[in-house]
Amino acid sequence: MSEYLYIKNASQVITVSGSSNKPKVGREMSNIGVIENGSVLIKKDRIVLVGVNQAVEQYVNRLSEPVDVINAAGKVVTPGLIDPHTHIVFAGSREKELEMRLKGAKYIDILKAGGGILSTTAETRQASEQQLISETVPRLDRFLQYGVTTIEAKSGYGLTTMDEWKQLRVAKKLNEIHPIDLVSTFMGAHAVPNEYKENPDDFVQLIINEMLPLVAKEKLAEFCDVFCEEGVFTVEQSKIILVEGKRLGLLPKIHADEIVPFGGAELAAELGAVSADHLLRASEEGILEMAEKGVIAVLLPGTAFFLMAEPANARRMIEAGVAVALSTDRNPGSSPTESLPFIMNLACLTMKMTPEEVLAACTINAAHAINRAHEIGSIEVGKKADVILFDARNYQTLQYNYAVNLVDTVIKNGKVVVK
Ligand code: NIG
Ligand code: FE
Repeated sequence: MSEYLYIKNASQVITVSGSSNKPKVGREMSNIGVIENGSVLIKKDRIVLVGVNQAVEQYVNRLSEPVDVINAAGKVVTPGLIDPHTHIVFAGSREKELEMRLKGAKYIDILKAGGGILSTTAETRQASEQQLISETVPRLDRFLQYGVTTIEAKSGYGLTTMDEWKQLRVAKKLNEIHPIDLVSTFMGAHAVPNEYKENPDDFVQLIINEMLPLVAKEKLAEFCDVFCEEGVFTVEQSKIILVEGKRLGLLPKIHADEIVPFGGAELAAELGAVSADHLLRASEEGILEMAEKGVIAVLLPGTAFFLMAEPANARRMIEAGVAVALSTDRNPGSSPTESLPFIMNLACLTMKMTPEEVLAACTINAAHAINRAHEIGSIEVGKKADVILFDARNYQTLQYNYAVNLVDTVIKNGKVVVK
């Protein structure tokens, strides 16, 4: 087998280049670097050349070594898609909640009554590491089929020190055994477990005194996230946890303003969080502060769709200069899907993001939201060879044909992993 992989004659190559240092904001989000009739050359796990067909062909012709060729005629080539917000490691399933919600029950009330996140927590606590691995691998396989080559993965269904540790160890193991790269986030503050219901501040203390030090010591996560929401964790509690996480080297992220306006976006700006996620009910001040402090908005229109809620105001955020990324929020309660392409369709159709903005949001901006933009998120010389071929002649078609899987080929680290 050759060290080189030559993807030639694509109808379009979408490079999303030029933004590895800073996420794309405002109008930059529409600048996605479209090369008509383009080719990409990969050597081992890296991109070594990208350009118009003739230029790449000339270079390839001068190589003395053999080259593997993929004919991409009639296809669109993009960077591997990146999902910067998932809760993928868990046991069990919650289809009964859908029926409850269809009959009028509210997501947050199901949680307050001890269901929701807490019912997945009960099942996840029971599960062995091996069982969690077996339940999660098929989800990762589906992500890959949809063109997703890197995901962020949160803990938060353990809610005891050892069960949070178990979830993070499973994510680490999955990163080693599966082609998808997983980037871990500690989210011990996902819900207050039943045993701390009467004294939630003691649970906050457990997180900062026991969980965070262990996670930091064993380097099991790069980020710390909190469900900052009415009836879950207050702004003050969230701040205590995120500040301590930051002190220990875990960068802050926040589940912010999902159900009611709660000051989550403002807190994200105050703490210089990497991202604030959800933001369905973010205030105008919160949006402006996020723009000023460079906090990325990770929007989750699939969650809004599945919870039958109004999605976030993406247009206002983009106009205000906030960098927007998109994600599935893959979890068993509010977003049971691995189809990032369908989330991209929803971003267009329910939040009026353009096809260009959507691609920037799922590539380079998503890479920034997990601190990986130096490695992935664009097709540029030196970056990891994570590349997708779609069965489409132009990138607009990816948003026009909705809820279908147009992925033709997935290349991860220079290797064809889906064909
Ligand atoms: O991002 N909002 C909080 N956490 C997840 C849902 C988790 C669950 O319901 O299991 C979310 O939507
Ligand atoms: Fe989430």
